Amino acid sequence: MAQLTDRTAYSPDVPSLKEVFRNRLRIGAAVNTWDLEPEAEAGRVIRKQFGILTLENESKPLYVHPEEDRYFFDRFDKFVRFGEENGIALRGHTLVWHGQCPGWFFRDGDSDASHDLLLSRMKEHIKTVVSRYRGRVAVWDVLNEVLRDEGGLRESRWYRIAGEDYIPAAFFAACEADPDARLVINDYNLESSEAKADTMAALVESLIRNGVPVDAVGLQMHLNLYTDMELLKKNVRKLAELRRLKPDFKLEVTELDLSCYRWGDNAEDLIWTEEHERAFREKYAALFRFYLELSEEGILDSVVFWGLNDGVSWLNGFPVRRRNYPLLIGRNNLLKPAFFDVAGL
Ligand code: XIL
Repeated sequence: MAQLTDRTAYSPDVPSLKEVFRNRLRIGAAVNTWDLEPEAEAGRVIRKQFGILTLENESKPLYVHPEEDRYFFDRFDKFVRFGEENGIALRGHTLVWHGQCPGWFFRDGDSDASHDLLLSRMKEHIKTVVSRYRGRVAVWDVLNEVLRDEGGLRESRWYRIAGEDYIPAAFFAACEADPDARLVINDYNLESSEAKADTMAALVESLIRNGVPVDAVGLQMHLNLYTDMELLKKNVRKLAELRRLKPDFKLEVTELDLSCYRWGDNAEDLIWTEEHERAFREKYAALFRFYLELSEEGILDSVVFWGLNDGVSWLNGFPVRRRNYPLLIGRNNLLKPAFFDVAGL
């Protein structure tokens, strides 16, 4: 079992990540609306530690727009109210993705939707959702995971029906609905696949050159103990270069976690050893040192963890059910030594 200390993330005498990194990085987490219930212990963690929040699932099209003529905003509304009442910034995740998107988007009776029908549905969805929270949700993951793992555009249903056109159209629709929101293109493995980082850099460069309102690349950063830090830095630096084309361009870390299993390894529960503990602490400290470097250069301003603590992390269920220990806050909200390492930077 990963090493835990005897103090929780909301103990009065422990550091607050949001305070420690104030004016350097905005620190956040993915949550679910049950965490926001007045009596939930999670609320105490959130209020003490985090300055920005993402909904882990409940703002995705599958939940918000289950049928063409029916939106469901109760949970998203609740999230936005919680943020406003507690002075916490909010991210909208996500408008266009191949995952957790209801099938009706792509159908027209018994056949596939046409190019124009799909784009008009997409625009209607984006305008309705973004304008509802105009001025209240500061950042949107407009596009999620549009690239293939080996580089190039993903051949999702979006791409097969609408070709590349859905990419700029999504940003224009979001910008029209809230011109002040930060609009993000978000993806995973950008730090570990050179091909993917190259495709992202080329895609965003051409979007910017064509006047498409894209403001940031979101790096999900689902990392593991074996992630190559030199490659990570190189790929992130490549994406940071986009600032040449647009001075206020940003990178964001949007879904940070650090699995103890290699990418593609579906092994069962491992026994946590001192080696794992050492690697975990070193990697988190090295990462945050790098984030601080990027923040000083003005290119990175927010780092969001994917989950509130190890016990609720999606990595206990993906890609297979097994115990994982990917966050700085352990089960039962007990803090890990790595939390104190990071808070000391
Ligand atoms: C995941 C959630 O954490 C899970 O609860 C859900 O079952 C599937 O989606 N990249 C993303 C996130 O952009 O939306 C995903 O979230 C994790 C990978």
